[in-house]
Amino acid sequence: MGEILETARLILREFVLEDAEALAQVLSDPQTMRHYPAPIDRNGVREWIERNRRRYANDGVGLWAMVLKATTEMIGDCGIIRQPVDEEFLYEIGYHLRRDLWGQGLATEAAIACREWGFTHLPVSRLISLIRPENLPSRRVAERNGMTIWKEVQWRGLHHYVYSVTRQSA
Ligand SMILES: CC(C)(COP(=O)(O)OP(=O)(O)OC[C@H]1O[C@@H](n2cnc3c(N)ncnc32)[C@H](O)[C@@H]1OP(=O)(O)O)[C@@H](O)C(=O)NCCC(=O)NCCS
Repeated sequence: MGEILETARLILREFVLEDAEALAQVLSDPQTMRHYPAPIDRNGVREWIERNRRRYANDGVGLWAMVLKATTEMIGDCGIIRQPVDEEFLYEIGYHLRRDLWGQGLATEAAIACREWGFTHLPVSRLISLIRPENLPSRRVAERNGMTIWKEVQWRGLHHYVYSVTRQSA
């Protein structure tokens, strides 16, 4: 139900409120969220899910729940969000993964699938990822997703690279 796409090891599907406990293992982890102002508390995790459910309804996209096929566990999120950047709306690929599963290429696998899904289903010529310069693992995922640094912006008051891939170069 609510399934968006499938890769070799993962299913991406829409979040439901019942995912809150598993998602808290990702978003409430201080190390996972060290590039954010703060880890997200239980209430914030429920709001995160509700916000993404509104995005599915309003934008047709949002961050989706990442499910590991081998165990059926919900292990993180990856998806596409519509973001205002420099006064234009762009579609951003984002990802957060439970820390014990880092380094197996799972985020890269999900991000590539989202890029392919985006260029198939959205009328856009560019997909982006907004990344703090010091977030090296996230930058590696973006690079392996075919992205290069397009420009630099202040995003929510913090310096970010805008990584980008165009339909032509994908
Ligand atoms: C970013 C994130 C989703 C990557 O997940 P992942 O499944 O481990 O990613 P992958 O295994 O596909 O690739 C990670 C890459 O970063 C590299 N990497 C990991 N830790 C690193 C570090 N401390 N310094 C430099 N590179 C690092 C890995 O070596 C790998 O690159 P390589 O395969 O070329 O060697 C995960 O680290 C995460 O959840 N981070 C916290 C949330 C976050 O910052 N999200 C992005 C917001 S913009």
